[in-house]
Parts: sequence; structure tokens; C-alpha cells
Amino acid sequence: MKVFITRKIPARGIDMLKEKGFEVIVSPHDRVLTRDELVEMGRGADAVLAQLTDRIDGAVVDSWGGSVKIIANYAVGYDNLNTKEIAAKGVRMSNTPDVLTETVAEHAFALLLSIAHRIVESDRFSRAGKYHGWEPELLLGTDMSHKTLGIVGLGRIGSRVAHHAVKGFDMNVIYYDVRRNEQFEGEMGASFREKAEDVFKEADFISIHVPLLDSTRHMVNADLLQHMKPTAYFVNTSRGPIVDEVALRDALRAGTIKGAAIDVWENEPELTPDLANLDNIIITPHTASATIETRQKMGELAAKNIIEVLEGREPLTPIKVA
Ligand code: DGY
Repeated sequence: MKVFITRKIPARGIDMLKEKGFEVIVSPHDRVLTRDELVEMGRGADAVLAQLTDRIDGAVVDSWGGSVKIIANYAVGYDNLNTKEIAAKGVRMSNTPDVLTETVAEHAFALLLSIAHRIVESDRFSRAGKYHGWEPELLLGTDMSHKTLGIVGLGRIGSRVAHHAVKGFDMNVIYYDVRRNEQFEGEMGASFREKAEDVFKEADFISIHVPLLDSTRHMVNADLLQHMKPTAYFVNTSRGPIVDEVALRDALRAGTIKGAAIDVWENEPELTPDLANLDNIIITPHTASATIETRQKMGELAAKNIIEVLEGREPLTPIKVA
């Protein structure tokens, strides 16, 4: 059996596949493959371990020659896969839920704290030699404790961010999701809002945790952002295209919102012009799940999913197609 890995991942996942006696081909290029390269290198493979940067549809699957039985995505999000077309070819798909929940929730919280306390701006200020002694009003930030956190998307990651806010910072949590979670409300004292707009109006801090779907693309646009308080902060660790980045830049520039921190960009790796010139935004390069432990676990889970399918069983964490 041949497994094609579209970009080098931590060793453990690769070793697990080799220990099963599979022939493992890892792309020799440390970059995103072109569509032609993806097709060429995957030809004749039984399984493909793909990255969120690989766009795979029915035509790519066809060009692989009908041998591929599973595409194991090295990510929890899978908007890079045309799931309907791939499923129609009888190819299984899997993602990596759960193993990255804590890490992404930590990153989201790190961004919330960092933007509220102006950590990155203060670091830049200090390194530039601008600190000439303590001042009563130097780089004043905002407290998070006892404020209102608005969560949009109360899935695994969103609910962990809410948990940290309640347990660690005595925050009041409000949330919007397509599904209400009364059990969570009882446990965390969180309150449901019928519309995202209501969360945007009331929250002091907003954190987005929805998948990228047709219905969530540009969900955060100028209309929604204009409901935010001028003192409120916005954080996105889900997918970039959920936010209209030009509208976000304009709101930050005009000061109609206080600050933002984004780990995901609308057109990675390109940033909206001038966004990076603003002091009231922190930008990380899609690294919310990038800890040694988690990236290793993601590789192990992707490898396990491949092993299950190539040994004739169902994947452990399948992507289900509606
Ligand atoms: C995911 O898993 O979807 C993250 O965006 C990358 O780890």
C-alpha cells in the first residue's frame, strides 16, 4: 500500500505508517504543492495525508487514478476539500478533531490577553528603545476579568475558550451558535443569543469559532462590525474568509472597534494592504495549533485514520457528508 503525504509532518505519524509496511512518499518540497504536483505525486496512492492548503476536488481524485481510499486531512477544518465530490467517488475523508482543541483555545486566549494588555505593542516599544522610565499612563490596556466575552460558535474550541474565561477570569459569557447548548449554559452560567448581531452589540471581547461554510463566509462584515462597542476587541482563530478583512481594517483604522487579533487571514499568505501597519491588531500566521505536542498528535491521528481504512475498517474521525 502506498501513502502520499503532501508535506512533511512530525515524524511519529510518518513512522506509524512505515511500521505498518506501507510505502510512504513525503513531498520533497517544503511548500504548498501546485495542483499539477499534487496530481502527479498522488497518482497510484492508496491514501493521501493532505494539508489544509491542498485544494482537493473530484477531478484531482480522478487524476489519481481511482486507487485512493482515504484522504486524511491534517487539520480539524476541511474547507480545502470538496467533500461532496470526493464522497461521490467513494473516497473516505477524515480530519483531526479534539487533539488540537486545548491548544487552539490557549492560542485564542493568548490573543485575547495580548491585545487587551497591548503586549505586542509594548514589546515593539521596548525594543525600539522608547522606554525612558515608568509613567502613570504608559500603554494603558484593558482588563478582561469580569467583562463580557462573546463566543460565536460554541463547538469544542469555542466552549473551551468560554470555560477559561469563566473559570480563570470570572467573565460573563454570551454566545451565538446555530444550536443552543443548555447544558453548557447551566455549567458555565453562559447565556444564548438568538443572533450573532446581539453578541457583537453586547460583548467586550468577541472570539470566533465557526467552520468556513457558504453560510459563514464574510459572516463578519462591515454590518456586523458596526454593532461592536468602540471599546471592544475581536479575535479570530477559525478561518480567515469568515471575516471581511477590508472591513476589519477599516473599523480598526477608524477606531470604531478598539482592537483585534487574528491567527487566520482572508487570503493566506497575503494580508489586506495596510492591516499590518496598524498598532491595534495582532497577527499570527495560522499557528494556533502549532505546538510540538499537538502537531505530533495531529499526525498520529491522521496516520491512524489511514491505517484503519487501509486495513478495511472505518476512519476514527470521519468527515461526514450531509
Ligand atoms: C485546523 O486544524 O483546522 C487548524 O486551522 C490548523 O491546525
